Amino acid sequence: MKSRRSWESWAFNMSHVPVLLEETLKVLDPRPGEFFIDGTLDGGGHAIAVLERLGSNGLFLGLDWDETMIKGFQERIAKISNFQFPISKLILIKENYKNIPMILKKRKLNKADGLLLDLGFSSAQLEAGRGFSFSKDEPLLMTYSADSKPAYEWIGDLKEKELAKIINNFGEERFADRIARAIKKNLPIKTTARLAQVIKEAVPFRRSPLGKNYERGRLNPATRTFQALRIFVNQELDNLQTVLNQIPNILNPGGRVAVISFHSLEDRIVKNSFRALVGAGRAELINKKPVVASREESSNNPRSRSAKLRALRII
Ligand SMILES: C[S@@+](CC[C@H](N)C(=O)[O-])C[C@H]1O[C@@H](n2cnc3c(N)ncnc32)[C@H](O)[C@@H]1O
Repeated sequence: MKSRRSWESWAFNMSHVPVLLEETLKVLDPRPGEFFIDGTLDGGGHAIAVLERLGSNGLFLGLDWDETMIKGFQERIAKISNFQFPISKLILIKENYKNIPMILKKRKLNKADGLLLDLGFSSAQLEAGRGFSFSKDEPLLMTYSADSKPAYEWIGDLKEKELAKIINNFGEERFADRIARAIKKNLPIKTTARLAQVIKEAVPFRRSPLGKNYERGRLNPATRTFQALRIFVNQELDNLQTVLNQIPNILNPGGRVAVISFHSLEDRIVKNSFRALVGAGRAELINKKPVVASREESSNNPRSRSAKLRALRII
């Protein structure tokens, strides 16, 4: 059997470094023979460490909306020479995590003992030419699933007011009206570089009437609009709310759920959903406050700086 250390160092060697790995394992506490679900498999940075703890009598359901992530994970585990987890107990599906109850039913699976959601996109996806990055020149897709309608079509179809509302609500961008107007005026916009340019020209990036640079130069003016469009195109907040509403249908009594979020809109949904379950007497918080990255992790992995881990146990 490979030692725990070597599994974890394998996980750490992958291009996507799992965020808050030790902290997540601590709250999820996977035990031999249990059934765990990872709703956001990606490179399997967390999944591999969970699989090791479940042992050969465990059961694991791994989902990712991005098919290339499922394939990449399969290729990775095939390369681990003494991979111990039985392949027959490893179920991998390209699916939206909001459909977990439907998948459990369809596959005749019982409720699980653990659920992990590590939200958003990964560094591998940032490099994959999918339009998530404003610092690259790529087709403006922004979708996890290749079947979803791409961002460039959405910005063409939405009315200016609808676009401004999305940029304001999901990007918390105070120049949303100006940006939406500029986007509609410059259509078609089919690449990330063109969108970033249009946004830059729309905001008071240099000298504004207020006498300030955009965010005093601390933030690329495209940051908030890109976040907003990605959230909208993938319905990220709806997916999260839908799955959290169904936690009692997904987990056994004693089951644990851990959610790692990366911005305040997501974290608010997690916090309020957990609070509602605790208030209804159906669950207890594992940590009163969200767990954040240590100083060491923050300096080694910039992505971890905004991560917040919340965890809950069903009673
Ligand atoms: C931050 S990564 C997860 C990283 C993983 N925990 C690891 O350490 O390797 C998030 C993953 O969730 C996937 N994803 C995003 N929204 C999803 C959804 N609604 N359903 C399923 N997968 C989703 C993305 O495609 C991405 O691969």
